[in-house]
Amino acid sequence: KITCSADKTVVIGLAADSGCGKSTFMRRLTSVFGGAAEPPKGGNPDSNTLISDTTTVICLDDYHSLDRTGRKEKGVTALDPRANNFGLMYEQVKALKDGIAVEKPIYNHVTGLLDPPETIKPPKILVIEGLHPMFDQRVRDLLDFSLYLDISNEVKFAWKIQRDMAERGHSLESIKASIEARKPDFEAYIDPQRQYADAVIEVLPTQLIPGDNEGKTLRVRLIMREGVKYFSPVYLFDEGSTISWIPCGRKLTCSYPGIKFFYGPETYFGNEVSVLEMDGQFDRLDELIYVESHLSNLSTKFYGEVTQQMLKHSDFPGSNNGTGLFQTIIGLKIRDLYEQILASKAAAPLEASKA
Ligand code: ADP
Ligand code: G6P
Repeated sequence: KITCSADKTVVIGLAADSGCGKSTFMRRLTSVFGGAAEPPKGGNPDSNTLISDTTTVICLDDYHSLDRTGRKEKGVTALDPRANNFGLMYEQVKALKDGIAVEKPIYNHVTGLLDPPETIKPPKILVIEGLHPMFDQRVRDLLDFSLYLDISNEVKFAWKIQRDMAERGHSLESIKASIEARKPDFEAYIDPQRQYADAVIEVLPTQLIPGDNEGKTLRVRLIMREGVKYFSPVYLFDEGSTISWIPCGRKLTCSYPGIKFFYGPETYFGNEVSVLEMDGQFDRLDELIYVESHLSNLSTKFYGEVTQQMLKHSDFPGSNNGTGLFQTIIGLKIRDLYEQILASKAAAPLEASKA
């Protein structure tokens, strides 16, 4: 089959434990590209796939090789590589990247069974989201950009309580037990993928309130790897310097405990990174424009685009703090990366013909 290299799919990996904000990030990302992603029309209603004009999001749970019963029988969790078919994941992501449609399995989260496959056509942008996008080296090498959402145990616990206790009626003890049960496999197979990510959004309890463990006020760090092709880190004031900034006072109406930014170079798993950190939350989202005006390299198309995106989705979780801000910024950086890759492909045949 002959494929045109000019319309090769750009592949993005999004890794996180379940319940850590992957779908919220996806909604912010597809909004930056100008349209919400929807389930495929006329297909399996339990499909995990989301499709927009530009972007197709596939959930890596679809590559479970063991269904729920199979996992129980073998005593392995969904996080265990033995419950996942990385060979098929690699083949299909590779095919899509090369412009070839695939018949992707569907893991049905309702029944816990593998349903008949669905056809996935090569999109402009393919996002593979789930527990293991950076686990297998072959799959990892296909990624044009990768993001890991790293939610600390304290915060994960707070979010789970909020969702599973308030909305699903689970008990505090059962939530604690399920987090504890996932921990060993999470630490063995999911967490180590951080080292491969081009960007990590780390979500920690605040340091502004001593001893706070509530998970309401958050300290969020955007860790951006240096030297990644088509991705240049965002910076505060002065690239490469180290800065602590409290924008409250005359310019921002911050209530207790206020807002504190930090920016500086660090090393992360032996790699050079830039870190932008925000602790605290915005009282008034429109004031974000003041913060935005001090950030550089945002890959916006017009002044205030970050603030506009945040205001547009002020109902999404994390919109008043660093999780929403940094997810929005990474969305803009991915758009920029996509446009650069597209431009480089358009230029490539020209150069070849010159030679
Ligand atoms: P995933 O797709 O990884 O399962 P979601 O984006 O659906 O995660 O988020 C799961 C739940 O976690 C949300 O319903 C919300 O309760 C909580 N949550 C996610 N992101 C945030 C955030 N930034 N701030 C507060 N709560 C959040
Ligand atoms: C994780 C996986 C899911 C899986 C769930 C529970 O969240 O992403 O695919 O369904 O764990 O697994 P279980 O074996 O209890 O069905």
